[in-house]
Amino acid sequence: MCGIAGYWSFGNEAFPILLKALENLEYRGYDSFGFATISDGKLVIRKAVGRISNSRCDLIEGRMGIAHTRWATHGGVSERNSHPHRDCTNRFAVAHNGIIENYQELRNYLISEGHNFLSETDTEVISHLIEQMVIKDGRNLKKAVMDVSDKIEGRNAFIVLDAFNNEMIASRKGSPLIVGIKGSSDEEKEVFIASDIPAFLEHTNKVMYIDDGEGVIINGSPLFFRLSDGLPVDKRLITIDWSPGQAEKGDYDHYMLKEIMEQKESIRRAANQNPEELMKVAQMINEAKGVFFIGCGTAAKVCQSAEYFFSEIAGRHVNFVPASEFDNYRHFLIPKTLVIAVSQSGETADVLEAISIAREKGSKVISIVNSIGSSMTRVSDYTFMINAGPEKAVASTKATTSQMTVALLLAYACAGKLKEGMRNLVSLAGEVNDMLNPRYIEHIRYVAENISDSRSIFIIGRGVNYPIALESAIKVMEVSYIHAQGFAGGELKHGPIALIEKGTPVIALVADDDVREEILSNAIEVKSRGAFVIGISPENNEVFDLWIRTPPSLGVLSSIINLIPVQLLAYYLGIINNRNVDMPRNLAKAVTVL
Ligand code: AGP
Ligand code: GLU
Repeated sequence: MCGIAGYWSFGNEAFPILLKALENLEYRGYDSFGFATISDGKLVIRKAVGRISNSRCDLIEGRMGIAHTRWATHGGVSERNSHPHRDCTNRFAVAHNGIIENYQELRNYLISEGHNFLSETDTEVISHLIEQMVIKDGRNLKKAVMDVSDKIEGRNAFIVLDAFNNEMIASRKGSPLIVGIKGSSDEEKEVFIASDIPAFLEHTNKVMYIDDGEGVIINGSPLFFRLSDGLPVDKRLITIDWSPGQAEKGDYDHYMLKEIMEQKESIRRAANQNPEELMKVAQMINEAKGVFFIGCGTAAKVCQSAEYFFSEIAGRHVNFVPASEFDNYRHFLIPKTLVIAVSQSGETADVLEAISIAREKGSKVISIVNSIGSSMTRVSDYTFMINAGPEKAVASTKATTSQMTVALLLAYACAGKLKEGMRNLVSLAGEVNDMLNPRYIEHIRYVAENISDSRSIFIIGRGVNYPIALESAIKVMEVSYIHAQGFAGGELKHGPIALIEKGTPVIALVADDDVREEILSNAIEVKSRGAFVIGISPENNEVFDLWIRTPPSLGVLSSIINLIPVQLLAYYLGIINNRNVDMPRNLAKAVTVL
């Protein structure tokens, strides 16, 4: 994970721009942060543990520099393990995203060559390898970056700042990097590089994508090249139509709340897909020999929901597999298999790895993604963009319901009912708009206050609401740190019911559907054992101790509706318990390591 940023210009100070870039990238990792600039021909490096948004940083001079916000994988959270990492001569500074799988072997070699390591990270081998190749072996920096990229194993992106030549060179193999350009004349030109677009969106929306296996030299206009042979690569300048405001908190205290509220609009935007493309992919699904929906975490729950959507709407069997387990399914993949990958970031390493397995087997890959220009959009045969706008809170909310919207549309398209599906989703968007009013939100805060000191919360659902129960548990756990577990309503009596004692909160996800009576019976079962039952349901029921109302008659679409109050509940459970809801401990928004 972690965020990398770099900046170059003729005359501006790099530090304030890098500082803001890191603040914008902090969702990617927030264990520690650091900067390196070149001032008077020398590297200046500053690092600190903690969150950049909570820290005061003194300006360091220099018109070019690199910066990093870390999600530690190798080496504890400490100042010396923070990036950038330097070489022994203080000429090079390196910021890195990824895991160098063979770092131990490289480190032993470099130590035997006399290099002095200051950190426990895998990253530091890059600085010393560059030093070894440039200073000891006489290669130029570009060639050294190419050779280092070849030597290090795993999914990695890194950027090297060279204080001697006043340039920086970046390499991308697996982890994301994007270049931004501002100004046309040479004197006015500013070049940005970062792990994600919001890092520099307030300065420019003109970007150039670095593809996998490519590098870029930044010392004036960026020069792109292939890492394998150094040959130049031409790039198109692409204009991104995100406005900086979309990536800001605005009047909200937290991104999570802002993004939950944006579902008033985002579901409608997600539903606005090209009908021809939907029909084309629906035909691929109908003709495929095996369809696998793959994703991680919350996106995996969207994939699991898709199984129910396709069954209910189209009577079509599709499979769900967590992307991190997909390797075990490789034996079932043939060229006629279709893999549908779901991801907010489009950068999740487990998903990218699963896609490459599918590719090896010749299977086709469709993706459902939010981040424009992300890796997944570039390795898929076709991508549905969910158009949710930047999602910055670590806990996914609006992207989830938008992904569900596209999965639903595909199910409707497979059943030959696309028009009906589009109509249903647009009216659902209207319901969400009405539901998210101040009184409703206040009520959910009140419900949260009633259960905020619980040790455990259980969530039950049946049918389409079963994956939602699982997703609800992820939301509650990640932002409130309260243990939460989702279950299929009928499964409780097979074991978990032993955990129910007086006052244990159980949230029942109810809808006007075929399983309504059964889920209410399950709620009665737990209530008889002392549970405090919260019903999320179109109608009140005597079994509920507290009731959160949802719109009636939505059938299969109830799964989107039922998730939204739980997102709000999770948010308030986090707030009441004083958690950093946007950046929960140990997590990062884009998990770019396996
Ligand atoms: C969501 O709330 C979680 N933080 C996490 O499970 C996330 O959904 C998962 O890491 C997948 O991310 P992606 O959608 O960017 O691939
Ligand atoms: N492996 C590096 C470290 O532990 C980078 C981590 C990352 O990309 O998240 O510092």
